[in-house]
Amino acid sequence: MFILNLANNFKYKENIMQTIRGFRDILPEQISLWQKVEKEAILLFEAFGFKEIRIPILEKTELFARSIGEVTDIVEKEMYTFEDRKGDKLTLRPEATASIVRSYIQHKMYTIDPVRKFYMIGPMFRRERPQKGRYRQFYQIDAEVFGIESAYIDSQLIFLLNELFKRLGLTGLSAHINSLGCPECRPSFQKALLDFIESKKDRLCENCLRRMDKNPLRILDCKIADCRKALANAPATLDYLCNDCSDHFDIVKTTLEKQGLDFIVDKSLVRGLDYYTRTAWEIQTTALGAQSAIAGGGRYDGLVKELGGPQTPAIGFAIGFDRLVEVMEQIDKTPEDRPLDLFIVSLGDAAMEKGYHWSCELNQAGIRTEMDFRGKSMKSLMKRADKLSAQYVLIAGENELMENAIVLRNMNTKEQVSLAMENLVPELIKICKNNIEEILRD
Ligand code: HAM
Repeated sequence: MFILNLANNFKYKENIMQTIRGFRDILPEQISLWQKVEKEAILLFEAFGFKEIRIPILEKTELFARSIGEVTDIVEKEMYTFEDRKGDKLTLRPEATASIVRSYIQHKMYTIDPVRKFYMIGPMFRRERPQKGRYRQFYQIDAEVFGIESAYIDSQLIFLLNELFKRLGLTGLSAHINSLGCPECRPSFQKALLDFIESKKDRLCENCLRRMDKNPLRILDCKIADCRKALANAPATLDYLCNDCSDHFDIVKTTLEKQGLDFIVDKSLVRGLDYYTRTAWEIQTTALGAQSAIAGGGRYDGLVKELGGPQTPAIGFAIGFDRLVEVMEQIDKTPEDRPLDLFIVSLGDAAMEKGYHWSCELNQAGIRTEMDFRGKSMKSLMKRADKLSAQYVLIAGENELMENAIVLRNMNTKEQVSLAMENLVPELIKICKNNIEEILRD
């Protein structure tokens, strides 16, 4: 009995000490690429006139159901939905567009200026089958533009994405673009699609058949190999575009061509969310196996109105942050950590106190300074300085304090100088800053 309890206890402890399936920690050792991407993305977004927006992680379920579409994989199968204590149905956001549209409408942003550009970076939640590049909590870098109908914005967002990936050193990506038409041209396409599907009915799965009446476009998302084969020659939206949609798509293509950006017109690209109209795109990579889409986006000219705002054209994209980092890891673009600038070896209580104040002032000035407060010996402190790859070590013991001659050792050249306490911190800042500049120059 006792042994059984012990075993159960052990198992219980083991389970709660594991992240939930599809959820993971991003550890300090992995974070440098995430930070590098974030810095580049923010720099670029700001240059293109975007402002950051922060939105809640939890929203009313209906917001997502109405914007992404009731009959989509995300809403039917993947959302983390629960009732709170009052019985309100809430969902962990599976994407950012719906919430940003909600915010645009809720705060009546269109009354001040309908043209708005936002970006946000944060976690999303979808209960998909976890595998490489696919997680249940994953991160997106999202951008949305409101109030601009012109096709130049479509090209500009694809240009922006391309520029970001170029700056991050990514190669081998391909941009797949398509046009999904508008409410004017959709009905004739849907009719052709339904006729086609009708002729293939006996080869389609139950889910496809169910979607026939409710949302036939989503049949084209089916991942089952037999269905995909049956649907290989299905009609494409591109062949049913009205004149306006066709002209719009032409401008997108010619602009990208003039900017020297390669793209593939991919008639089969339908995206998995219902809100799209006109231009839709995905940036794909071959580096992540089945999870080829590293970013996806498109126009959604009807969504603001659909959710209760005024008619407002809109367009945006989201980058799969986890996937982007995984591709960067493969091409070994991990930025080297800047080494520690200075380690303070303080021996004895008086030196410890002095060292504490020096280190705070140096940290304040942006100098990466560490010291050890455990009262260790000179030998073990020097070992620690080595372990942290300190560029300089400041040695302060009782003698040094008494003689007002604090020793500064250059760990690369092994040269030592003595510094007086009066001007110690400014002197150290000068020396360390020169050294940082030299490191950055190399
Ligand atoms: P999405 O295609 O569903 O679009 O997601 C965008 C990107 O998020 C994908 O291309 C992929 O890189 C990443 N992603 C999606 N699911 C996962 C997952 N389970 N694990 C890891 N990464 C994932 C949207 O979310 C739209 N809101 C994009 C948009 C913004 N359209 C207009 N504005």
